[in-house]
Amino acid sequence: MPAIVVVGGQWGDEGKGRIVDLLAEKAHLVARYSAGNNAGHTIINELGEFKLHLVPAGIFYPDKLCVIGNGVVIDPPVLLEEIDHLEDRGVSVRGRLFLSDRAHVLMPWHRLLDNLDESARGKSAVGTTGRGITPAFMDKVGRSGLRVADLIDPEALLEALSFLVPYKNELLEKLYGVEPMSIERVHEEYREYGARLAPFVADTQRVVQKAMAGGETVLLEGAQGSLLDLDFGTYEYVTSSVPSSLAAGAALGIGIGPTQIGQVLGVYKAYQTRVGAGPMPTELHDETATILREGGPRPEYGSTTGRPRRCGWFDAVAARYSARINGLTSAALTRLDILDPLAAIKVCTAYEVDGKRTDTMPAGSAAMAQAKPLYEELPGWQHDTSACRRFKDLPSQARDYVDYIQDVLETKICLVSVGPERDQAISLKGVM
Ligand code: IMO
Ligand code: MG
Repeated sequence: MPAIVVVGGQWGDEGKGRIVDLLAEKAHLVARYSAGNNAGHTIINELGEFKLHLVPAGIFYPDKLCVIGNGVVIDPPVLLEEIDHLEDRGVSVRGRLFLSDRAHVLMPWHRLLDNLDESARGKSAVGTTGRGITPAFMDKVGRSGLRVADLIDPEALLEALSFLVPYKNELLEKLYGVEPMSIERVHEEYREYGARLAPFVADTQRVVQKAMAGGETVLLEGAQGSLLDLDFGTYEYVTSSVPSSLAAGAALGIGIGPTQIGQVLGVYKAYQTRVGAGPMPTELHDETATILREGGPRPEYGSTTGRPRRCGWFDAVAARYSARINGLTSAALTRLDILDPLAAIKVCTAYEVDGKRTDTMPAGSAAMAQAKPLYEELPGWQHDTSACRRFKDLPSQARDYVDYIQDVLETKICLVSVGPERDQAISLKGVM
């Protein structure tokens, strides 16, 4: 059975975790394929509220397998804390969470370098999550990374650290005057992490291939959003995940071929948010922004960093673009209920750049920074939708809005969410 990819269509935080949590019920295996603990998914279910950064959202179904693929970078203490936290709250993890032996390991110098690099960039700071993600992927690509297979082998770990620690010390001391680290201390700490993580480590591409060969449904959970992609995002205000969090990255990040992906589901918020710096043409600074940020049961603050998210109208130019680069086969629209109080709703249908109208995203950062949104206005519904469970229960203006977004995406919307609870969702068309 071909795999299903769930991908973020905007700048992250679209509700991917919430959608995966819903779809996971019908899957056999759920896998993360990219990024690291810069991702943050909040999931609310009968066990309570959970924030996941590395463990796939399928973990709450006791019969599902969960995989952290080779494309992910893992920060060992963060992953161990997440596992402990889940176990403390009664979620079984052992025997069904598999960590790729090829995944890269985030080391203390990555976190340090992330924050030092950000300070050094001054006004051009990207506003990263400060989790060390870009330096970790830089080391992966630069062949100076450490992988899980070596983390769990104390001798291989020592050998790797004997090169890496002095190499990084030199860099950190000369560039930033940071105190050197000792090989022994790092080895002691990371050997212990390796020992604790060892029971979870597997050749995960085999786990995934086996499930697929057995006809099982495999769900590949994207992190971040398409507009944060290194190639197609708003460069340089992007993240550095390799492979990409785009749907095309899913095959590489888990170890399957592109022919083994059957569906790509794009998740979009009914409006637009962004955390961190970078262009966001539809950003608002008025009372509508406050309604979008504070209006729902779960206000718009980053689940990883707690930063307030920048909020604005739905950007159809960006949405259409991300639908195409992901080859979406269907889409989900989340947080429709947040628009409930608004009398009118705007959608950005084109940008004006250098006095010219364009309906696609410019590549140049200067062009993107000055892109002025051109809006179309739709009537609001001013009606509580949070209890709606069927499409026909929605007010006609809300149905029209969903149809409008569907036309923009040129992709069928299969699911609409009207609140954070598992059942606050309207299924329009079977996705699996
Ligand atoms: P989820 O999976 C929203 C953003 C950061 C910053 C830029 C680079 O929760 O949707 P990084 O730390 O990755 O080097 O930061 O990318 N960013 C996210 N924004 N949701 C995410 O993930 C993000 N992951 C990274 O805010 O602007
Ligand atoms: Mg998030």
